[in-house]
Amino acid sequence: MTGSFKKVAVIGWPISHSLSPTIHNHWMKQKGIEGVYEKVAVGPDAIETAISRFKKEGYSGFNVTVPHKEAIMPFLDKIAPLARQMGAVNTVKIGGDGTTTGFNTDGIGLVTNLKKNVPDWPKDKPVLILGAGGAARAAALGLLTEDVPFVMITNRTRAKAEAITNDVGRGRMTVVDWDHRMDAVAAAGVIVNTTVLGMKGQPALEMDLTSAAKDTVVYDIVYQPLMTPLLKDAEKLGLRTVTGLGMLVYQAAASFKIWFGEDVDYDDALRQVLEAGFQ
Ligand code: ATR
Repeated sequence: MTGSFKKVAVIGWPISHSLSPTIHNHWMKQKGIEGVYEKVAVGPDAIETAISRFKKEGYSGFNVTVPHKEAIMPFLDKIAPLARQMGAVNTVKIGGDGTTTGFNTDGIGLVTNLKKNVPDWPKDKPVLILGAGGAARAAALGLLTEDVPFVMITNRTRAKAEAITNDVGRGRMTVVDWDHRMDAVAAAGVIVNTTVLGMKGQPALEMDLTSAAKDTVVYDIVYQPLMTPLLKDAEKLGLRTVTGLGMLVYQAAASFKIWFGEDVDYDDALRQVLEAGFQ
């Protein structure tokens, strides 16, 4: 293999279901980049070994997924400010000299998906985030960076929502009690589900949307199924909806830009390939 053959990968445990190779290999082909993006199963004790191998074998970088997004941080040479604030890394760039830099593109992916699908989302109203895991933290930071005026966050375990508010809230974030989450619906311009509820094999999220304003956008980051019970309820009420697959694609686009400097998009060909697996 010559030096121009590009190698990238995603590490996780397990990793068999990752859609990232489909997405990145599509773009590499489209951009005429000769190379391959592969899935690499890396157990919790093998992170450092994987990084060494990627460096030795001249990889351009790699994505990091569950459960390594936080654990990988001490093994990297540099961490970009946004990833530092998120406390998690989903993208690593390996420089020509072997220097590793960690980035986080999850928040950008979430916000780009919203902007592309509903460009006229109500920007003057608060966003309601459901859940307080890593995805919620990325959502809060991404939205507050986008000048959303205010974020309300609610989570079954309140302390986790409070921690996110303290860490990234910038004085523009408040916690709503999980039992009172319905009370926040009327004020919200966007409602984002970041919990696992509604995912295949999980119970549906209990959320009464009847008090939502007509221009409210309901966004679910769950993409299996593509139309979750929450999104179906929203559709019945005539509310605009955003599915979660785009977040995955746009966080990947931001990673692609970091590695190859190329702008890529969620084009029709990619949409067809990805959505075929979800109908
Ligand atoms: P990620 O990092 O991908 O966002 P996570 O950290 O596992 O995932 O977060 C899952 C989210 O789903 C959490 O907000 C979790 O709530 P808790 O913090 O209280 O655990 C939420 N969740 C999972 N099962 C739930 C349930 N049955 N009811 C309400 N929330 C639930």
